[in-house]
Amino acid sequence: MYGIVNKAIEELVTENFGEEVWEQVREKSGIDIDFFLSNEAYDDAVTYKLAGAASEVLNLPLTDVLIVFGEFWVLNTGKKKYGALMETGGANLKEFLINLPNFHNRVALIYPNLQPPEFMVSHVEENGLHLHYYSHRPGLKEFVRGLIQGLSKLYQTPVEIRIIASRDEGSDHEIYAISW
Ligand code: HEM
Repeated sequence: MYGIVNKAIEELVTENFGEEVWEQVREKSGIDIDFFLSNEAYDDAVTYKLAGAASEVLNLPLTDVLIVFGEFWVLNTGKKKYGALMETGGANLKEFLINLPNFHNRVALIYPNLQPPEFMVSHVEENGLHLHYYSHRPGLKEFVRGLIQGLSKLYQTPVEIRIIASRDEGSDHEIYAISW
């Protein structure tokens, strides 16, 4: 994944727990990279190792780290660094989710070798919809939950999220039933 993702993990840890804790995470991960370049592509293993090491050092389940990281990605990386791009996504939560399938096409203008996730929406109703998430990357189910929670906070629209299908349970993708 592009270095921007690894950089965001570094920022999340540093901002909340300080430089020293980040050094411990980096050491535990075994990743010997001093600083990440946003627009350089790194092996996905780097990102997975950093997340795993953060979970060990902070003594938090990996699922919690992924959820917190998802929220941080939307509220910090997205809103603060790519505010204008985020605003093209929609004027409210429902619009943003309906437009999500196309969102990474715009991201790919900045990061040309992006391997983006795929999203699809169905069951669109006044107060909810189903968000379908497809990826060749394993283990990011709770990251997506965190992203949705981040969007919910961004648009000040409290949501309930139920995962009604997942690759863990034999489906070929995840489905999030989201209602507000
Ligand atoms: C300005 C905002 C955003 C930027 C700049 C951005 C950029 C990226 C980048 C660089 C990656 C790594 C993929 C790679 O390097 O090949 C990624 C992955 C991902 N993004 Fe975004 N993204 C943004 C917003 C979002 C939002 C709002 C969502 C969903 C609600 C989302 C969902 C994901 C997911 C799930 C992945 C993991 C990749 C996978 O599942 O295969 N992103 N994004």
